[in-house]
Amino acid sequence: MEPALSEALLNSILLPIIATDKQGRTLGLNDAARRLLPPDSAEPVGKRLDKLFPEWKALLTEMRGSHEAFRREVQLDSSRVAEASVTPVRDYGWAVTIYDISPFKDIEQAKNNLLGEVTHDLKSPLAAILSFADLVRASGPLNPKQEQFLGRITSAATRMTEQVHQLLDVVWIEAGMKLTLVEVNLLQLVKSTLEIIEPRAAARHIRFVLEAPATVPTITADNNRLGQVIANLVNNAVKYSPENTTITLKIWTEQNEIALSVHDQGLGIAAEHLDNLFQRFYRVKSHQTRQIEGTGLGLYIARSIVEQHDGRITVESEPGVGSTFTIYLPLSLQTA
Ligand SMILES: Nc1ncnc2c1ncn2[C@@H]1O[C@H](COP(=O)(O)OP(=O)(O)O)[C@@H](O)[C@H]1O
Ligand SMILES: [Mg+2]
Repeated sequence: MEPALSEALLNSILLPIIATDKQGRTLGLNDAARRLLPPDSAEPVGKRLDKLFPEWKALLTEMRGSHEAFRREVQLDSSRVAEASVTPVRDYGWAVTIYDISPFKDIEQAKNNLLGEVTHDLKSPLAAILSFADLVRASGPLNPKQEQFLGRITSAATRMTEQVHQLLDVVWIEAGMKLTLVEVNLLQLVKSTLEIIEPRAAARHIRFVLEAPATVPTITADNNRLGQVIANLVNNAVKYSPENTTITLKIWTEQNEIALSVHDQGLGIAAEHLDNLFQRFYRVKSHQTRQIEGTGLGLYIARSIVEQHDGRITVESEPGVGSTFTIYLPLSLQTA
């Protein structure tokens, strides 16, 4: 292409593009990129990228250390966010293409706010349904039909309350969750969580076995959130296991980590689903799971919380034999 045509073309497109050398110094930019800069700013050519955009230091570091294309979210100014797509330009350095994604961010934020408000508003009517059902029961005597219908009201409202809480957790995660860190004894936390779930398991003749050393080192973690992770894993183990089976929990320490595994003798999960299990709303669809209610949020929430603690979660499973979910948490949290 003729140089004059290339230049005219670059200046006619609406997408901002900046060419830099390998060190991130500006070699040239199109008109759309010039329009991103404050109107009274000095000539940008020759200046380093972080002189044009003060928030781009991390991008610059990555450019200097890299030879391959990459993308990164950057702040354009105090209110606008962009995705910078950085691609190598032979003999010169880099081409930085800037996509302003602020409108999408705003929509996402609005959606999350709405979800948060709506779900929050569902909490009190649900609490009212549950407590009035209790009051009706207490004001008895009821005939067997009334007893049965009331039982249905209670269990439906309980299920819905759990779903509302899960949705609120998702809102909390997407708003950049904040942990409340305290000293946590994982063994105690597992024991108290099992106590809560025990009746649900016993109703289906499912036993818990806990294998752990007599004492375990404490970790710095969010006690309630970690309790939620354990409850999600154990509830799944109960939910996806047949009657008269055993769920085995093990706690052990490795070099810098403490681990907890939850092993069941349940349905198991086919290999093709394993990669997707931790995604939002993902549920395995089969004739065996069709009857089992759920939101597909439990494992997404569990993974988000574990990763926020700098930990990880793994799954091993064999259909028809059982599943093992394991969480690993650092013994000393670095990012506290
Ligand atoms: N212990 C388990 N045994 C078999 N399948 C499981 C187990 N835990 C999770 N799953 C599968 O992973 C899916 C996602 O789990 P989760 O996110 O907790 O959602 P939910 O339990 O609400 O369906 C479940 O729908 C189920 O198909
Ligand atoms: Mg679940």
